[in-house]
Amino acid sequence: MGPEVLRCEPPHFWHHEANHKQPRQDMKINTQVAIIGAGPSGLLLGALLAREGIEATVIEQRSPDYVLGRIRAGVLEQGTVGLLERAGVADRLHREGLPHDGFDLCVDGVRHRIDLARWTRGKRVTVYGQTEVTRDLMDQRQAQGWPSFYDAQEVAVHDFDSARPRVTFSVQGVQHEVQADYIAGCDGYHGVCRASVPAQALTTYERVYPFGWLGVLSRTPPVSDELIYSNHERGFALCSLRSPMLSRYYVQCSLQDKVEQWSDDAFWSELRARLDAPAAAALVTGPSIEKSIAPLRSFVAEPMRFGQLFLAGDAAHIVPPTGAKGLNLAASDVHYLSQGLIERYREGSPAGLDQYSDRCLRRVWKASRFSWWFTSLMHRFEQSELSGGPMGYRLQQAELEYLVQSEAAMTAMAENYVGLPF
Ligand code: FAD
Ligand code: DHB
Repeated sequence: MGPEVLRCEPPHFWHHEANHKQPRQDMKINTQVAIIGAGPSGLLLGALLAREGIEATVIEQRSPDYVLGRIRAGVLEQGTVGLLERAGVADRLHREGLPHDGFDLCVDGVRHRIDLARWTRGKRVTVYGQTEVTRDLMDQRQAQGWPSFYDAQEVAVHDFDSARPRVTFSVQGVQHEVQADYIAGCDGYHGVCRASVPAQALTTYERVYPFGWLGVLSRTPPVSDELIYSNHERGFALCSLRSPMLSRYYVQCSLQDKVEQWSDDAFWSELRARLDAPAAAALVTGPSIEKSIAPLRSFVAEPMRFGQLFLAGDAAHIVPPTGAKGLNLAASDVHYLSQGLIERYREGSPAGLDQYSDRCLRRVWKASRFSWWFTSLMHRFEQSELSGGPMGYRLQQAELEYLVQSEAAMTAMAENYVGLPF
């Protein structure tokens, strides 16, 4: 039996802003795909489906401003850029995004360039913030009037092991029920979708790293045109950027650290201490406009499908940020899921949906391996059972020395950094 095609008439777009329609009492809505979460996974999936005439309803627990206020990833793989083009949201990305053909590894105070374009036959990455990707997708959704609910409370998924799954939630005290053919769980690591799957149906894998990243965003010119990943005996540091006047920097910190303990001055002097002398001298400092600490973890939940419920992005897996794979993995999941749903609605074939979990997980594990490897190579693990203390540091130095001298090693690094094909 093919999925029933039920449409919302007229399209609902309820939003926190006053110029949008107000919901009536106790709403019952039919849609083809209910998408939980308006992060990059949920919004991109909604856009790819809408362009094929498949109606998706997005249900997000936070406000649009809250979603846009989260400073996260900054580096897009070429495949992710291609997907954003397909979704019709790449104009600003092409105007304002910064193509990068390489990055620097800083080892023992000396910088070595990894020439991405050279080792991957011309591939590159694009620096464009997750916030901007989300904003472009949100603006498109709003302009097109595609149905979305923000500020949804008590979101719950039901009956996803049946042909008629449902989502219930309330907005400003009004109860809503969305009946769908499929539910896409795009609600991040702490979301409700994975948590609703019976524990015996899930296998999870997890590694928590014994340090965090302290990140600062500042309206200052970036220290370098290209990213610098630094392995230093004081700990890892990363110099990244969002635009020619917006810098994003990170230093490895203790999990016990609190953001309030880190003054801007303390951050800048720690960052400077972990860079090579020319970069340290060139660093322009200024007031932080965002400062936060993120813990690092590797996590994978298998499988990624339960009946009519499909998990995508951080709802199914987390990688440590070193190498910027989190957002890009969310994009490849969404590619496979949109293809599966398009095949289902267009040709009546369930093949793509049946293969969804396996296809995603093959790529997820490869990106998890790369992120784990790059994290292990770049951070100080002194008091951790994960490394061999001082010996671990010397082994890292040896591997880094090998990496920057071996064409084979640089090719492997570059191939993974620009993103494996999907
Ligand atoms: P999310 O972006 O988490 O979106 C999920 C959405 O679902 C959210 O809007 C949330 O509010 C909503 N939601 C949650 N629960 C519910 C519910 N019950 N009902 C309805 N909606 C719900 N990646 C990198 O590549 N580089 C980085 O530098 C980087 N930094 C990061 C820093 C932090 C602090 C975090 C948390 C992640 C970072 N990541 C980074 C990872 C990257 O941001 C994620 O991989 C990416 O956001 C995944 O997108 P997503 O849409 O799957 O999940
Ligand atoms: C950024 C984050 C990363 O984890 C990374 O590897 C590169 C860039 C960033 O936030 O800009």
